[in-house]
Amino acid sequence: MSSSKPKHVLAFDIYGTILDTSSIAAALQPLLAVDAATAAQLSQLWRRYQLEYTWRLNSMGTYEPFDVVTRRALEHALAEHGLAPDARTLAHAMAAYSRLPAFADAAPALHALAALPHVEVVVFSNGTEEMVTAALAAGALAPRARRMFLADAVRTYKPARALYDALVRFVNSDGAEDDVPADRVWLVSGNPFDVTGARSAGLQAIWVDRPGRGWVDRASTFEPSTVVRGLGEIVDFVRSL
Ligand code: 2OP
Repeated sequence: MSSSKPKHVLAFDIYGTILDTSSIAAALQPLLAVDAATAAQLSQLWRRYQLEYTWRLNSMGTYEPFDVVTRRALEHALAEHGLAPDARTLAHAMAAYSRLPAFADAAPALHALAALPHVEVVVFSNGTEEMVTAALAAGALAPRARRMFLADAVRTYKPARALYDALVRFVNSDGAEDDVPADRVWLVSGNPFDVTGARSAGLQAIWVDRPGRGWVDRASTFEPSTVVRGLGEIVDFVRSL
């Protein structure tokens, strides 16, 4: 279906944007036989080290796939709580991570976006193809994104400039007649580090501020192009482009 409007690409982050990473606490509680508060602390610490490790690997100029990073971050978070479960338990926790539930607004928003002729949705994530494919399938979201561009492709993580530059090249690698310029590539993310990375590379960025606390990030002067409280708002915003 063609459109008279210029094409825009929405590059959807996965973890913390489409998938609810905080929900892993519910799986950790019985698996580790800990109380709900400890499970929530472990879940937060796991996410913190997962992302910290990606930034440290970037700075060191080294790379490990996101499943390795995620498992090592889990072991680190557990060790800080004096826990060292066996390999079977770790495997169960990682399996739960590949089945993270999608936020309720994800499927309807992706469905509505798929109907807009001037918009293409691509998946843009640090996750490995196996992790992302499993996670999207678990959330019944797989058919909504025709293409995915992952950190593995350039062996560097968000918010490395090289990754966003490579995303724009990837977007324009489908043989279409007219290139989509960086300022018509819209990162959609709940993660401020990702938003500022995209904006510093000249892309647009829609920040999904689910808690509604407002933008307080001071790592740089970069800010979101626009802020939404949920993915449903993106559909109306994109229709206006
Ligand atoms: C991503 O999905 C980790 O949220 C980050 O790329």
